[in-house]
Amino acid sequence: MVELNINGRSHKLDVEPETPLLWVLRDVVGLTGTKYGCGVAQCGSCSVHINGEVMRSCVLPASFAAGKRVVTIEGLSRDGSHPVQKAWAQHDVPQCGYCQSGQIMAAAALLRKKPKPTDADIEEAMTNICRCGTYQRIRAAIHTAAGSRKDGGSVIHIVDAAVPSSSVAAADNRDNAGA
Ligand code: FES
Ligand code: FES
Repeated sequence: MVELNINGRSHKLDVEPETPLLWVLRDVVGLTGTKYGCGVAQCGSCSVHINGEVMRSCVLPASFAAGKRVVTIEGLSRDGSHPVQKAWAQHDVPQCGYCQSGQIMAAAALLRKKPKPTDADIEEAMTNICRCGTYQRIRAAIHTAAGSRKDGGSVIHIVDAAVPSSSVAAADNRDNAGA
């Protein structure tokens, strides 16, 4: 049994303490916005906040999060209105979308620590992998979320035909529908 505070709610969960937090979030609690990519702390698709720090939930035992505040993409805002989610939608950041909940969680944690990050700050902090190569839009969206509006000029803005402009809230809806 492990008791976790996830997105402000307490959950008493009948899981082994060493069960990876990612599996607890997805398979036990049903919060499927957090994604499995590599399982070895390399890609960042499983990123969540634990006591405000961005961490990779695929390699953390559930017991690590006991007594701490866990926030997943579903808890970042109720309706996709977090400044990072709004900036993501504004810049049409997602392509396939798979990595994006982790990217948003990493960006939100960065902005909490550095409200006006430089490009170098973003490069250093945003180590999540995106197979679709959305890195330039991610950087632009982080600057927009920071209010620095450093989003013109060098940014290559690609319109993704296959994926609608979406925040991760939309990706969550797809997950909840069984995608
Ligand atoms: S799934 Fe956790 S870092 Fe890749
Ligand atoms: S948007 Fe496809 S992996 Fe990042």
